[in-house]
Amino acid sequence: MLAWRDDESFEIGAIEYACRPTGRRFRSEPGHFCLLKARGEVEQYEQLLHHLESKRIVEVGTYDGASAALFAEITQPEKLVTIDRRSTPSEALTHFIATRGLGKTVSAYCGVDQANARRLREILDAEFDGEPIDLVVDDASHLVEPTRATFNCLFPRLRAGGAYVIEDWSWAHTATVGPWLTTDETPLTVFVFELVMACAHLPKVVSNVNVFGNIVLITRGAADLDPAGFDVSNCYGARGGALLARPEPIPMPSRRRAQPGADLHHATSGPWVMAARIPRPDAASGARALI
Ligand SMILES: C[S@@+](CC[C@H](N)C(=O)[O-])C[C@H]1O[C@@H](n2cnc3c(N)ncnc32)[C@H](O)[C@@H]1O
Repeated sequence: MLAWRDDESFEIGAIEYACRPTGRRFRSEPGHFCLLKARGEVEQYEQLLHHLESKRIVEVGTYDGASAALFAEITQPEKLVTIDRRSTPSEALTHFIATRGLGKTVSAYCGVDQANARRLREILDAEFDGEPIDLVVDDASHLVEPTRATFNCLFPRLRAGGAYVIEDWSWAHTATVGPWLTTDETPLTVFVFELVMACAHLPKVVSNVNVFGNIVLITRGAADLDPAGFDVSNCYGARGGALLARPEPIPMPSRRRAQPGADLHHATSGPWVMAARIPRPDAASGARALI
């Protein structure tokens, strides 16, 4: 279905997609999208989308709309909603929607922060009319708090067995230098830990968590969930919460020593270095200060 020209470009439906996961990005133009995914990720999505047969999809993190267009081409959805805090959609996406006649199928919402739960609920109510969603893809901030806020809002609206994908969770551990690595942001890994613990503690809520490289796929269980009050932080119990609390930050090593298994990490800064950047909890806020 996708006609690959080389490892960095393919065509589908007479539209060209250039894979630019990091660097060499360009402004997408009608007929030529800049897609922020590597070939391996595109192939993973192709398999996943065929397997899931998703008809109602929400994407968070539109960028130029390349991934939304690609998902629409592969799945032929009933409804695909894509959301971004950017102020306007790209001309490339607007052109794609118009020329494919997808005005009633693909809806692009701009100026929406993924942490704005009230706005997300309004959008879902307007677009899905109470029908459950099959698939959510979060490729937006990759930061813990906004990612959790979006998850709390959208996960309960998935159907039982529906899939929730979070991209690029592993940025704190990879050699690819993204803008986050220069900040003190808490690694998104912390949120993945929460999901794994929720899967163990309440499997009827989170029935599975699968990690495929830098993509994590969470499967919704069959439990009834309150879309207005759901909070994954309540899904792993006190022992799970205690595991996320770190009374003292792990000190930065004064000089690099041979660490057991250090050669297995491909990052220039090992995970112990990133852990040291997790903010220290204050006594009053306890474990929640960390997550
Ligand atoms: C990695 S890009 C998305 C790439 C796109 N999905 C693709 O594959 O081509 C991340 C996008 O998320 C948006 N974003 C970042 N933080 C956000 C937030 N807090 N709320 C909404 N959108 C956000 C950015 O504006 C950017 O367009």
